[in-house]
Amino acid sequence: MTDTPLSGVAEERVLVLDFGSQYAQLIARRVREAHVYCEIVRHNITAERIKELAPVGIILSGGPSSVYAENAPQCDPELFNLGIPVLGICYGMQLACQALGGKVHNAASREYGRAHCEVTDPSDIFDGVKTQTEVWMSHGDQVEAIADDWEPLAKTATCPFAAVRHKKAPVYGLQFHPEVTHTVEGKLVLANFLQKVCKTSGLWRLADFAEETIKQVRERIGTDRVICGLSGGVDSAVVAALLARAIGKQLSCILVDNGLLRKDEERAIVDEFTNHFKADLHVVKAEDQFLEQLAGVVDPQEKRRRIGKTFIDCFKREADKIEDAKYLAQGTLYPDVIESGAAADGPADTIKLHHNVGGLPAELGFELVEPLRDLFKDEVRKLGLQLDLPEEIVWRHPFPGPGLAVRCLGEVTREKLDVLREADAIVVGEIKAAGLYRATSQAFAVLLPVQSVGVMGDSRTYDNTVAVRCVNTDDFMTADWSHLPHDLLARISTRIINEVKGVNRVVYDISSKPPATIEWE
Ligand code: XMP
Repeated sequence: MTDTPLSGVAEERVLVLDFGSQYAQLIARRVREAHVYCEIVRHNITAERIKELAPVGIILSGGPSSVYAENAPQCDPELFNLGIPVLGICYGMQLACQALGGKVHNAASREYGRAHCEVTDPSDIFDGVKTQTEVWMSHGDQVEAIADDWEPLAKTATCPFAAVRHKKAPVYGLQFHPEVTHTVEGKLVLANFLQKVCKTSGLWRLADFAEETIKQVRERIGTDRVICGLSGGVDSAVVAALLARAIGKQLSCILVDNGLLRKDEERAIVDEFTNHFKADLHVVKAEDQFLEQLAGVVDPQEKRRRIGKTFIDCFKREADKIEDAKYLAQGTLYPDVIESGAAADGPADTIKLHHNVGGLPAELGFELVEPLRDLFKDEVRKLGLQLDLPEEIVWRHPFPGPGLAVRCLGEVTREKLDVLREADAIVVGEIKAAGLYRATSQAFAVLLPVQSVGVMGDSRTYDNTVAVRCVNTDDFMTADWSHLPHDLLARISTRIINEVKGVNRVVYDISSKPPATIEWE
C-alpha cells in the first residue's frame, strides 16, 4: 500500500487482537463510539511491536477455537507483562487466565444466549452496573478454576467466573460479550475499562479526524492533481467531498455513464458535484459502448467481465486526457483493509472473495490515495453528513458495480433497461414515501425474462414480470427478506402494472441469503 496510514492522527489508541471472532469489528466500533481510536490487529502480533504502537489498552477478542486445541491461536504471553491494561473477552479471557495460571475446561453444556449475571464486585469495570444484570454468552469452554492471583467479579448460574481481575497486573477477563447489544450494560462495562483502567481521555472525534485527514492529504498531494471515480455510491462520494475540501480545484472527478445506472442517478451526481462542490467533473457518455459489449450475453459472470473491462477502458481513456494527474483516490474502507489482510499486523490472510466490478487495476500508474481506509461504513456516512453531502447520497442503498445489467436477467437491451429503470424508481419511491427506506438495507426491482398471460381491459396481454427484492442485513453476507407491509407491496404492484408499459405481473421475493443471494445474477 502506498498510502500513508492515517491512524497516526489518533494520540490514544486501543488495539483489538483478533482471534477469529465474528465480533472483533464490533468491539472496535464500540470502542470508537466511546471516542477512543481503535485498530484491529493480528492475534500473534509481538509484544515488541505492541510496545512500538504504544496502545493505552489491549482487548483480546473472542474466537471459535478452544484454547487447548492444536493450532489454537495464541498471543505473545509477554504482552501481559507490558503494564498495558488488557481485557480478554470469552476466548480472550480464557487465554489470559491460562497464561496467568488458571484452568479452562469444556463446560458441561454449551452456553449460548442471554444469561442472568450477578456482579459480586462492583468496583472499577462494574462501577455503576446493576448487581443483577443481563449478559450475552456464547461459549463451549469456560474458566473452571483461577489461580490465587486472580479474583472473581461476577458469576452466572452455570459460570462461576463470568468476570475476573488479576490482582497484580491490570488484566481483566469477561466470559460474556460486552460488545453485543443483548448485554444490557455492556457499553458501560467497556466504557469503565477504557476510562477507569486505561485512563483514556475519550477525546477522539470524527470531526477532528476529518480535519486532520484533510491536512494530511493536502500535505501529501502538494500541487499535484488527483483523479477520483464517482459511482453514485456513498464511499466514492465521501472521498470526493473530502478531497474537494482538501485540494479544491486540483481534484478531477470521472463519472462513467455506462447506461446501467438507476433513474436520474447521473443527473443527481452531476448536480451535486458541479453545483455544490464545484468540482471538475468529467462525464464519460459510454452507454452505446457498454450495450454493444453486452449484446447477446446472458451469462452473469461474462456480463460482469465485459462491464469491468469496458469500465477500465473508458476510465483510462478519460484519465489520460487529464494532464498532470498523479494520484487516484479510492474509497477503500477499514473492513476491506482488515479482510484483505493489508492492515499493519492485520488479522486475516484471506482475501475477501468478492465479485467486485468497478475496481481499477494498479497498472493505471497512479499513486493511491485512500482517505477512508481507517473508517467503518457508519463512520463514513457520519463523515459524509459532516461534509455537507445530502442525506439522499449518504443513506443511499448499495448498488452493484455492474448496475442494472445484473438485474435485467438474460440479455440486456436498451428497451429492457428502460422498463427496469421505471419499475425500480417506483419500488424505491414508494418505500421512501412509506418512510421505510432506511429500515431496509437494499430494495430494488429485477426484470425477469419471463412473460405471462394477463388481462387488461377487455384484452389479453402477454407481458413481462418484475420481481421486487428488499432485504435487511448488517453485513450483506447474510440477509433476510424485508417483511414490508402488504398495503405498501400492493401500491408498488399496482403502480408498476399501471405505469410501466410492458409489465403485467409483479412478484415479491421471499428468499433469504443464504441460500439465495441478494442480487438475482
Ligand atoms: P449478493 O448478490 O452476492 O450481493 O448476495 C451481496 C452484495 O454485493 C453486491 N454485489 C455487487 N457489488 N459488484 C459490486 O460492486 C458486483 O458484481 C456485485 N454483485 C453483488 C450486492 O448488491 C449486495 O449489496
